Amino acid sequence: MPESPDHSDSPDPGNSQEHGHIPVLLERCVELLAPALTRHHADGTGAVLVDATLGAGGHSERFLTDFPGLQVIGLDRDPNALGVAGARLALFGDRMRLVRTRYDGIAGAIAECGFERIDGALFDLGVSSMQLDQTERGFSYSADAPLDMRMDPDALLTAAEILNTYDAKSIARILRDFGEERFAGRIADKVVKRRAQQPFSTTGELVELLYEAIPAPARRTGGHPAKRTFQALRVAVNGELDSLRAALPAALAALSDGGRIVVMAYQSLEDRIVKQAFSAATASRTPPGLPMELPGHEPEFVALTRGAEKARQAEIDRNPRSAPVRLRALEKVGEGANS
Ligand SMILES: C[S@@+](CC[C@H](N)C(=O)[O-])C[C@H]1O[C@@H](n2cnc3c(N)ncnc32)[C@H](O)[C@@H]1O
Repeated sequence: MPESPDHSDSPDPGNSQEHGHIPVLLERCVELLAPALTRHHADGTGAVLVDATLGAGGHSERFLTDFPGLQVIGLDRDPNALGVAGARLALFGDRMRLVRTRYDGIAGAIAECGFERIDGALFDLGVSSMQLDQTERGFSYSADAPLDMRMDPDALLTAAEILNTYDAKSIARILRDFGEERFAGRIADKVVKRRAQQPFSTTGELVELLYEAIPAPARRTGGHPAKRTFQALRVAVNGELDSLRAALPAALAALSDGGRIVVMAYQSLEDRIVKQAFSAATASRTPPGLPMELPGHEPEFVALTRGAEKARQAEIDRNPRSAPVRLRALEKVGEGANS
């Protein structure tokens, strides 16, 4: 049975605002994961949570505070995020472990920390407010900066590289597939023409081109004209959808019986991947056409949310970043047994 989507609007009791990032749907995440995180393993050790998108550590801080026996493995591909979160969470000592990896490396990270199974997993997808605020990284269309957009500064591909070297067809495909941009073809043609005179190096140059490429009537609707192109380039630069597609089955496979997973997506492409992975996980494994469920073929997971949950207006007013969020959660079916 799905649980009530009655997530609290109570103010964030932690000090997360000091870090310039208010964790999204924090109360609801705690409520959903708590039953899995208050358990103890047979050897007396506490539950283990993987925070697959540690960011500034706002969610992890709350979990470590609320659940005194909990151990958290925090993943991020951005060493800057790990530095900030590491300093913030140092007071929790070895209850907090940091691993620099893409989240599809979740199984390796769990093993590296000496665990076989986990009790909870949290994915708070996308770019962080901290990354957006570091204007020199080029994630934001509202500041002029190098066209970079790498979450991992050691990765090779940048947004400038895509715009300056990919052919028009490939650029258009990226804008269409990862940004759902209606004017993808027009924008790509203009990019290719413009770079023949001078290669792209800054976000400002791209924003200027987008104002020219997107017709005025379309610019008046659908948010900032650069929004979809910036999203698309960020997704392409960081291989975000492939990473998510690989990470979700790995996270589900790592959960112990009674373990829970919460995923928050901020754009429809990511939410679609979460929805598909979760509906496969909650489907019966009995071959279709049989009149009854074959023993041992019942679904491995049950949904804890009815469809996707959204933030309430009160939270959106306090934290506009929560406006597009879609939260989905599952529990691995079992007797609450531990690893
Ligand atoms: C929205 S923020 C998380 C914020 C965090 N929940 C908090 O409360 O501070 C997302 C983080 O996930 C990281 N990230 C995004 N995609 C990733 C991936 N494929 N692998 C690992 N980390 C990723 C980003 O670098 C960013 O720091």
